[in-house]
Amino acid sequence: EKSGYKHFMLKEIFEQPRAIRDTTLGRISLETGKVFLGEMKITEEDFRRATRIHIAACGTSWHAAIVGKFMIERLARVPVEVDYASEYRYRDPIPDPNAIGLLITQSGETADTLAAQREMIAKGMKTLAICNVVGAMIAREAQGTLYTHAGPEIGVASTKAFTSQLVALFLFALHLAQTRGTLSDDESRTLVESLSLLPGKVEEILRSADSVCEQLAKIYSGARDFLFLGRGIHYPIALEGALKLKEISYIHAEGYPAGEMKHGPNALIDESLPVVVLATQDETNRDSHLRYEKTLSNIQEVTARSGKVIAVAIEGDTHITQLVDHVLYVPPASELLLPVLDIIPLQLLAYHIAVRRGCDVDQPRNLAKSVTVE
Ligand code: M6R
Repeated sequence: EKSGYKHFMLKEIFEQPRAIRDTTLGRISLETGKVFLGEMKITEEDFRRATRIHIAACGTSWHAAIVGKFMIERLARVPVEVDYASEYRYRDPIPDPNAIGLLITQSGETADTLAAQREMIAKGMKTLAICNVVGAMIAREAQGTLYTHAGPEIGVASTKAFTSQLVALFLFALHLAQTRGTLSDDESRTLVESLSLLPGKVEEILRSADSVCEQLAKIYSGARDFLFLGRGIHYPIALEGALKLKEISYIHAEGYPAGEMKHGPNALIDESLPVVVLATQDETNRDSHLRYEKTLSNIQEVTARSGKVIAVAIEGDTHITQLVDHVLYVPPASELLLPVLDIIPLQLLAYHIAVRRGCDVDQPRNLAKSVTVE
């Protein structure tokens, strides 16, 4: 059942090209650039009228939600609010029947996410679920469901479900943008084309990064703490990289927006602290390039204090190799899709460190695959 892999987690990491392909399948047209979400009780008119999107989710799915906020706001220009599902009710969300609720959940059974959905419905909102398990409770209560087709995920650490969620969010953002007329046909076609190229790029990373991460695990598996840094859409990936590591290796890890380092965390840096920095960029995108340049200064702040830097960068970035201790390369992609590539080496790094530390990778202590109590 593990098809020759040592753990479900590793099998599921390697299934990502297929999971991404299946989540996209039948939903895009390469000729027209159009995206189809399928039948639902949320109408095109609802999408056109939407004043804002409220997203609620937990854990890894909450990280996907933050990436989704960047995608939706960039492409469809609709304001997005992201909440931890466990917190949504406590802020007494302001009723707005023209807001759309979005729940992101692999299992579709997470108690807090279900409670947030019920709060949304009680406040008069229609809800859309991005869910991996067909027929799950949250999908049944939603007015529409966009299924991720990751297939069953057995490892407690979410991997292929996460990248499929990112792809589903990208499809949703594109569809919303097309319905609201915020994207030209050319832009749509270009984005849909880059989406179709993702599975091949993920395969490439899996081929190259696995052994590099195994080597890195030898050096860093004894670390007490880890920091993960990123800016903009890469920031939630820093959070996700840190969560993967702490969840399966029990090493304390934190994710931070790179620009926040000066406001406190810089005090933690010494020669024993490995810092993973997301330094990928889309060279064709000016904002992305500016973020990259600022990230390079953050790297220098770490190395000046003798911290060890592991960077994730775009293939061919020779400049960065001179600044950092190790580089994990990923192929180039458009800025909004880079998170799907960024996370692959971080999953492999967490996996190999946990294996070296003798941890139960698929079944970490104190955790359950689906959290059905609040
Ligand atoms: O099934 P869900 O997506 O609703 O689950 C949410 C979280 O419990 C889940 O993502 C958890 O954080 C994972 N173990 C992270 O790897």
